[in-house]
Amino acid sequence: MIYSRIIGTGGYLPKKILTNAELEKTVNTSDKWIVERTGIHTRHLAAADQDTCDLAENASRQALEMAKVKCSEIDLIIVGTTTPDRVFPSTACLLQARLGNHGAMAFDIQAVCSGFVYALSIADKFIKTGTVKRALVVGADIYSRLVNWSDRNTCILFGDGGGAVVLEASAEPGILSTHLHADGAYKDVLTVPSKIEQGRLHGDTFTKMQGNEVFKFAVKALSKVVDEALEANQMDTTAIDWLVPHQANIRIITATAKRLKLPMEKVILTVAEHGNTSAASVPLALDVGVRDGRIKRGDTVLLEAVGGGFTWGAILLKY
Ligand code: UT7
Repeated sequence: MIYSRIIGTGGYLPKKILTNAELEKTVNTSDKWIVERTGIHTRHLAAADQDTCDLAENASRQALEMAKVKCSEIDLIIVGTTTPDRVFPSTACLLQARLGNHGAMAFDIQAVCSGFVYALSIADKFIKTGTVKRALVVGADIYSRLVNWSDRNTCILFGDGGGAVVLEASAEPGILSTHLHADGAYKDVLTVPSKIEQGRLHGDTFTKMQGNEVFKFAVKALSKVVDEALEANQMDTTAIDWLVPHQANIRIITATAKRLKLPMEKVILTVAEHGNTSAASVPLALDVGVRDGRIKRGDTVLLEAVGGGFTWGAILLKY
């Protein structure tokens, strides 16, 4: 049996930090409200001259360095992103050019905040079938550019960042199972409804969100998919060493952990400092947990995410 194992992680956050106190000056909100309702204190914002590929490249170089793998040794690149730098080529192709890799398969996945979980699942299948040996899987978004900074319902939530992992074929586990879902019936609950036509953008280019509906759906869907992942591996919650959740709202994370009966000490949290970085949120949190020494080789780790679509998913793995 071939498994895919994570052999390197990386994360990158732009330098500029936006605090709740700064947001208080631009929209009718308060640090107290934001912290109580979301757990977010700060978020990072990309500079005007930074693009999604910059964030992806920084994170990827760190992951490749940890993995001790040269970019030329990568034969699959997948980038989960909702803020690609061009309509085409894909951000994965742009990243490939930056890294100096020629010939690897490269494409983007658009599943909004579930983008990295989707991308990692796909890369896992390519490795398990023996099609590729090493994959670079990235989640990167400059989500701040899809946010109306005068809309207090959304602007307080999001930040920018990039996270990456290098996956390698191995006889040792590895990714144990992946579980992906979507339901397009919820297409209007969380959306950026614009489209490009005849050289123009048509429709609203900002995020429209029914926050409460997203919240309720997220708690239900995540609890269910996490159960599905445990059941598929005949494991119970006690087997989980670390939960690495999508960092959208501390209350969603706490509710999911509670449903799992998982103590919060076993949850990697970055939401307070990063906010919701969309596809970057899970790999950034994973990288934090790995680099600060909490997530160790052999640990059982559960990744989960939910995003626009709706899309959602979970991955159970041995680190
Ligand atoms: O990856 C998926 C991306 N999205 C999410 O995960 C979002 C999920 N949803 C949430 O995180 C929460 O629903 C929010 C944080 C967006 C909102 O929290 P909530 O507890 O669901 O609040 P609410 O929407 O029920 O709004 C309560 C009140 C409203 O005022 P009224 O109508 O009761 O007078 C809002 O207008 O809070 C008001 N409000 C704010 N007040 C101060 C909404 N945003 C703000 C704000 N500051 N920034």
